[in-house]
Amino acid sequence: MTKKPRYRLSRREFVNSVLVFLGSLMGGVIGLPVIGYVISPALKRQRSDEWVSLGPLESYPLDEPTPFTFTRTKVYGWERTTNSYVVYVLRRVGEQVIAMSNVCTHLGCRVKWREDLQQFACPCHDGFFDIEGNVISGPPPRPLDRYETKIEDGILFIHFVGG
Ligand code: FES
Repeated sequence: MTKKPRYRLSRREFVNSVLVFLGSLMGGVIGLPVIGYVISPALKRQRSDEWVSLGPLESYPLDEPTPFTFTRTKVYGWERTTNSYVVYVLRRVGEQVIAMSNVCTHLGCRVKWREDLQQFACPCHDGFFDIEGNVISGPPPRPLDRYETKIEDGILFIHFVGG
């Protein structure tokens, strides 16, 4: 029967091992929060969800889609992106209002109100929408997206959800 060799740590090896362990522990205690601080912006995703003021409802003409442009800045980590959005406001009699996105529901091109045709036209694949954003012809699969609206003290707001 063979005897297993016993490994014994010398005092120096033991002290070195303890120092390495304590050094690693301190490095972790100090380093992890620093690493977390440095990379956390990259892991956060900003989602905007807000009511955007479009000004006095009275300033929009009746029965005529009127564009309103606003910008929003998204922050992803260290990257800031500013996007421009266009809303078509269709004011009807009373306080009835429809706020539509100008993004075509086919492949995302920008539609434009054509006064001469009384239709929204998408230049990419000849998609056409009526004054309320319903599809008339072309490939768009659904009406233009609408924003939720509210009116407070005569000011029109849309519920904007981005990001
Ligand atoms: S993107 Fe508008 S019709 Fe294709």
